[in-house]
Amino acid sequence: MATANQIKALLKSHVTGDDEKFITIAMQVAAHEAKQGHTKLAQELKHLINEAKNKKARHSNVLSLVRTNRELDGILNHSEPYIDFSELTFSEKQSKTFKRIIQEYKQQEKLKSYNLHPRRKILLYGPPGTGKTATASALANELKLPFFTIRLDGLITKFMGETASKLRLVFDAIRSTRGLYFFDEFDAIGSDRMSPNDVGEIRRVLNSFLQFLEQDHSDSFIVAATNYKNLLDPALFRRFDDVLHYDLPESSQIKHLISCKLSEFPLQITANEWKKVENVAEGLSHAEISRACEDAAKQMILEEGTSLSFQNITDMLEDRKKAKSNV
Ligand SMILES: Nc1ncnc2c1ncn2[C@@H]1O[C@H](COP(=O)(O)OP(=O)(O)OP(=O)(O)O)[C@@H](O)[C@H]1O
Ligand SMILES: [Mg+2]
Repeated sequence: MATANQIKALLKSHVTGDDEKFITIAMQVAAHEAKQGHTKLAQELKHLINEAKNKKARHSNVLSLVRTNRELDGILNHSEPYIDFSELTFSEKQSKTFKRIIQEYKQQEKLKSYNLHPRRKILLYGPPGTGKTATASALANELKLPFFTIRLDGLITKFMGETASKLRLVFDAIRSTRGLYFFDEFDAIGSDRMSPNDVGEIRRVLNSFLQFLEQDHSDSFIVAATNYKNLLDPALFRRFDDVLHYDLPESSQIKHLISCKLSEFPLQITANEWKKVENVAEGLSHAEISRACEDAAKQMILEEGTSLSFQNITDMLEDRKKAKSNV
């Protein structure tokens, strides 16, 4: 066990924000435990210390990128990942692809020793609310990478004329600071280069993007997302390692999604009722179903109910459907 003095010193360094001291004391505790023959505990402590060190290194990289690159203000946005893979519902094909992506990225050193490279550029396309942004966040979380979002629609309208040079800055950042870079609303630059009403600027930007993407051999992970696959130039597709299709949830996914979202609440739904729930939810996106689940849970809590019934959930799903058809 750590001594009282070590615990005091740990708390003191935590309160004063002295991370280096915190880690030094934690290492002393681990060494002490190892000496006492508590090998398992010592190993666990070392593992936690390494994680803390890596997190600190990532954090300081992010800070230096944001501080030194004022020109990236308003283009590159750093945020904490907000969702875990276990909270997302995917088709079998999607799950398989993500498993492979994660495995390759995590074991990239092994691949590189054979002169092979992990998948690290992916394009996600599909209707709103099917989990594209959530996937990017969950991947950053899983790969322990800082999460950066680039708003392309903002980039183009805001800096008309200098968009390509701003894009270069983004790719410089991708090279200098390892992270997951998420190009949201990708269609803003991805629209077909041959389209007759295309703005010259967008065409130039798209060409630059293709070039930067192709030349990028960094360690960062690049995710692009769009609602409109048809708008995208075919030349883009072969620059990505994987192009993933997102769709509204199928019935088997609906049950999984609702069960996950309401896992903390008692559900009273029979097998037959599940079929009806799936029918009602058909045509809604994952995001809409998630919101309906939250509504049902809130109602149950405020009305002091003890469990969620088939009726509670279908009522809220119907509400979401009506709201959708009124838009
Ligand atoms: N596949 C999914 N599994 C579980 N929850 C999901 C899924 N997709 C979406 N959600 C829920 O809906 C929220 C919104 O989804 P998200 O923003 O990822 O959709 P999107 O595909 O990026 O939409 P848009 O095209 O409008 O940007 C998520 O934060 C999550 O709570
Ligand atoms: Mg999104």
